[in-house]
Parts: sequence; structure tokens; C-alpha cells
Amino acid sequence: MKQAEDSAKQPIAVEVIAGKVYLWCACGKSQTQPWCDGSHAGSDKAPLTFTAKETATIYLCGCKHSGHAPFCDGTHQFLNGGGRDQYFQDGQTD
Ligand code: FES
Repeated sequence: MKQAEDSAKQPIAVEVIAGKVYLWCACGKSQTQPWCDGSHAGSDKAPLTFTAKETATIYLCGCKHSGHAPFCDGTHQFLNGGGRDQYFQDGQTD
């Protein structure tokens, strides 16, 4: 599977409405980040569908590397510089 493009290297804050269904861009090509605009067509990527549990501001992954997509899990912090591999090679586990 081809890696998703990094649309941003940081989370994207969005207002969501409880019960509303959203399509998060998983390919990184959408021009309406973090939402899908159909740009994944012809690729092996598909948008991730989720339903907002509450009306709130949430932080969606913009780097497309989160382990808990569509939500930011902090992975973006390791994308610049030494990166996650260096972090774990140095013996860090948390
Ligand atoms: S923006 Fe992707 S993990 Fe934070």
C-alpha cells in the first residue's frame, strides 16, 4: 500500500456537531483538509468515516501518520528531525 501524502505536519482543529457523519481524508491529497474532496480516486486510499460523539472542537490528524486516525495521537512530533525511529533507538519507550 502506498504511503499517504503528508498534507500538514500538525493536527487540524475543527468544530464538529454531535451525530454528524464526517469523511476524513486519508490520502493527503484533498484540497479541503482534513476533509475528503474525492482526490483519492484512482489510488488505494479511501476516506475514513466517523460520527462525532459530541459537539466540540477536536484535533484531527493532518500528517496522515496517526495510529488513531482520524484523531491526532502526537505522532507528528516525530516526523521532523530525528523522528520516531531515532526516539526508540535511543531506548525511549514512552
Ligand atoms: S497531526 Fe498526525 S499525529 Fe498529529
